[in-house]
Amino acid sequence: MGYMKYFLFLLLVLSTILMNVVVGQEKSNRIVINADLGKETISKFIYGHFAEHLGYCIYGGIYVGEDSNIPNTRGIRNDVVDALKEIAPSVMRWPGGCFADTYHWKDGVGPKDQRPSIVNVTWGGVTEDNSFGTHEFLDFCELIGAEPYICANVGSGTVQEAAEWVEYVNSSAKSPMTELRKKNGREEPWKVKYWAVGNESWGCGGNMTPDYYADLYKRFSTYMRAGRPYRVASGGTDPDFEWTETVLKKTQKFRNLIQGYSFHYYTFCHGWGDKTAATKFTENDWFHTMKNTLVMEERLERHIALMDEYDTENRIGLIADEWGNWFTVEPGTNPGFLYQQNTVRDAVTASLYLNIFNNHARRVKMANIAQFVNVLQAMILTKDEQIVKTPTFYVFKMYKVHHDATLLPIDVSCDDYKYEDMTLPSISASASKDKDGVIHVSLCNIDMNKSRSVEIDLRGTDKLSKSSGEIITSAKENDFNDFGQPEKVNIQKFTSFSVKNNILKVDLPSKSVVTIELNK
Ligand code: AHR
Repeated sequence: MGYMKYFLFLLLVLSTILMNVVVGQEKSNRIVINADLGKETISKFIYGHFAEHLGYCIYGGIYVGEDSNIPNTRGIRNDVVDALKEIAPSVMRWPGGCFADTYHWKDGVGPKDQRPSIVNVTWGGVTEDNSFGTHEFLDFCELIGAEPYICANVGSGTVQEAAEWVEYVNSSAKSPMTELRKKNGREEPWKVKYWAVGNESWGCGGNMTPDYYADLYKRFSTYMRAGRPYRVASGGTDPDFEWTETVLKKTQKFRNLIQGYSFHYYTFCHGWGDKTAATKFTENDWFHTMKNTLVMEERLERHIALMDEYDTENRIGLIADEWGNWFTVEPGTNPGFLYQQNTVRDAVTASLYLNIFNNHARRVKMANIAQFVNVLQAMILTKDEQIVKTPTFYVFKMYKVHHDATLLPIDVSCDDYKYEDMTLPSISASASKDKDGVIHVSLCNIDMNKSRSVEIDLRGTDKLSKSSGEIITSAKENDFNDFGQPEKVNIQKFTSFSVKNNILKVDLPSKSVVTIELNK
C-alpha cells in the first residue's frame, strides 16, 4: 500500500511536469519559402514616396531656392537629392494630399516673380508663394530618378483645368498648353504616366458621396487623356468598402478610364486623433502601434476581394498612396505642419507595412509612404543646412533588394507577442528572388522585449551556400537619429544566423528588422 501511494504521488508529479511543458510551450517559429513557385513581381513602385505642400516638406525640405546658402541645384537641396539616391526612390506623389484639391497648377508655372502668393488653407494657413510648381517638381523627379505621380484637383478645380494640366505636361502636339510650356522653358513633354483623379474625395477633397465621386471621376478621366495616362481613382476612408464597391461598379464598363484605385491607411497609436508622442511611449503604446499597423493587412485583403470581384482580370492596380505612422507633432512645432521624429518603432512598422505590400504584390502596384521629408513618417528630417536620415530611411534602403524582384510564396508560423492579455503574431516576413537568382528574406520581430529563434525552410532551390545579413535595431525602442549627434539607428552587419542544407536559422533580436541574402 505504501508503494502504491508512492507510485501515485510520482505519477502526479510527472504528469504535472508534462502538463507544464505542453501548456507553457511556445509555438516554434517556422517559415517555409518556396523558391521555385514565385509568380508575381514586387513592383518597385511599392517603395514610393509622397511630397505635399505641407509644413517643411516642400519648402525647406526639398526646395530652398537658388539664392539659398544651402548647396542646391536650381533651388533643390543637393544633400536631400544625394540621400534619396541611396534608397532608389521609385515614384514621388505630389502636390498632395488635401493640398492637391485646393491647388491650381497655373499659379505655379511661368516667371516666379509673377506667380501669385496664396494661403495654404489646409496646412497651417501659411503663405504659399508657388515658387515650387510643375517644372520644379518634375526637375526634382529627374534629379532623383523617380517617376512622378501627379494628383489633379477634383475638389475645387475644373475638368478643363485638369485636362489642360495633363496636356501641358504630356503633349507634343501644337496647342495653347504646349506653347505655354515651351514659353516657360520646357520644349519636350515630360510624359508623366501616373495621375490621381482627386484625393480623399470623401473628405478634404470635396466631401462627396461615392456615387457623386464615381460620376465625377468618369468625367475628369475622360478628358485627362494626353499621353494615355494611368489614372487612379480616389478611395474612401480606409474602412469604407461601400465607396470602393460603388466606384468599381460604376466604372466597370469604362475600362479605358480607370487603371488604378487608391486607398489610404495611417497608424494612429490608439486610434484617430491620438496624441502619443513619436519618441516618448510605453510598451502599451508600442503594442497598439503594432496592432493598428497590422490592420492594414485586413483592409488590403478586403479591398483586393472586391477588386477581384469587379476586375476579374486583375487589371486595376491597388495603390496605397498614403500610409505610415501619424503621431503627435514635436513639442514647440506648428500643429498644422505634422513634424514628428522617427524611432526604432517606425522602422519596425515600416517593415511590417512593406512585408504586407510585398506579399500582396499581385494587386498592390504602388504604395507611397507619407511623407518623404519633415512630415509624418519621414525618410529625412532637415534643420537649416543639416539633415538626418531616419530609421525609416534605413528600412527603405535595406528593402531596395525587393524592387522588381519575384515575390516568393511564404508561410509564417510563429509564437505570439504577448502584452497583458493581448497577443499579436511576433514575426512578419517577406521574400523575393532577384533577376540574378539571389534570394532575400526580410524579417521583423515586433516584440519590444523578447528575441526569437526562427527556422526557415528554403524549398525548391539548389544548395544555398553564400549568405550575408543586415539588421536595423538599437538599444532602446525609442532611439532615434538627431541633428548633430552620431546616428543611433541605421543598418548594421548581422551575423546571428546559419545556413545548412537550405535551412536558415536566425536569432532575431527583439524590435529588429533583418534582411538575409542567400546565393548559390
Ligand atoms: O498626409 C497628410 C494628409 O493625410 C493628406 O494631405 C491627406 O490626404 C491625408 O488625410
